[in-house]
Amino acid sequence: MTAHILLLPGDGIGPEVTAAARVCLEAAASRAGLSLSFDEAPFGGAGIDACGSPLPEETLQKARASDAVFLGAVGGPAWDSAPQRPEAGLLGLRKALGLFANLRPVKVMAGLEDFSPLRPERVRGADLLIVRELTGGLYFGAREEGRERASDSCVYTAEEVTRIARVAFEAARGRSGRVTSVDKANVLATSRLWRAVVEDVARDFPDVALDHQLVDSAAMALVTNPARFDVILTENLFGDILSDEAAVIAGSIGLLGSASLGADGPGLFEPIHGSAPDIAGQDKANPAGAIASAALLLRHGLKQAEAADRLEAALEAQLRAGPLTADLGGDSGCAAFAEKVAAHAAQA
Ligand code: NAD
Ligand code: IPM
Ligand code: MN
Repeated sequence: MTAHILLLPGDGIGPEVTAAARVCLEAAASRAGLSLSFDEAPFGGAGIDACGSPLPEETLQKARASDAVFLGAVGGPAWDSAPQRPEAGLLGLRKALGLFANLRPVKVMAGLEDFSPLRPERVRGADLLIVRELTGGLYFGAREEGRERASDSCVYTAEEVTRIARVAFEAARGRSGRVTSVDKANVLATSRLWRAVVEDVARDFPDVALDHQLVDSAAMALVTNPARFDVILTENLFGDILSDEAAVIAGSIGLLGSASLGADGPGLFEPIHGSAPDIAGQDKANPAGAIASAALLLRHGLKQAEAADRLEAALEAQLRAGPLTADLGGDSGCAAFAEKVAAHAAQA
């Protein structure tokens, strides 16, 4: 059986990190005796340029028909004043595929604490998973644009909170068994609903420890004592902000991957970083987050846990051996780094 992967390289460094992820996917798959086919489609700014839409209809159809979708990154100054932004394509794709659960793992590997700008003793042992709700909240509420007045509304239903909370509790069962639900229940009505529903869901998971933390305090704790967290469960906007902050714990935003999953159908796998216009087209991007996303694609998208383990081990081996990319103080190019990871994955 052949698994069909749709690649959406997108904009800026997106095509560079997508090529890197593909090389690694091919190596891991061939080592595992797995057959993959790849197709590519315009998306984001590239979709606007090619078809006048950040999410062309044909791209969406190809995504629906695939077994998994890999995205590089979208956005950039060229489209900042376009009638439709590239980012709208990403939101549209998440919504259309029903991808309500965004998993963003952050791990400081033993011995690699020096990657972080934080003190090594602070980040040592940090191993957390951000479970971010991805199709609700401020991102999808009614919006009013304007120069005199503008508004964005935040809406959550109990059903939306229940299903994402269940994902977090299930994930905690396979980890250290702790969920920290992050909200702003001292101010926001949606957060008070969130907290009450999470308490309800927790009753089905007596083996998982739950605590609640306000988002401002959680932002501080993330950089003062990141090892205290196991699973962080939070809403869309808080999850977006906290995951970029959490990237600092690991050392670079270029290191973090993510999986966006729905109840059924293909998942979307993408690094958490953006299109990095400042380094685009220079072979300087760190492809590690894209490669980590490729491993998540193997694990969650194709249910190939062994191949995923092997690719993660290959990435870790290369991060230990170097040379590293410029964001981590090295002089490796993006493509060369990925070739080395692929070589590890093919052998391991
Ligand atoms: P960004 O993540 O693109 O860049 C922030 C900083 O991190 C930059 O200095 C950049 O050079 C660096 N960086 C990012 N990824 C890197 C990598 N792999 N290796 C080395 N350095 C890396 O964030 P931004 O500048 O705020 O956003 C640029 C554009 O990307 C915006 O249009 C934004 O909307 C978009 N964006 C897209 C996604 C996505 O497609 N999933 C995610 C975030 C931002
Ligand atoms: C991310 C990005 C997106 C988000 C943008 C590009 C819409 O920042 O995936 O983290 O805010 O979800
Ligand atoms: Mn983000």
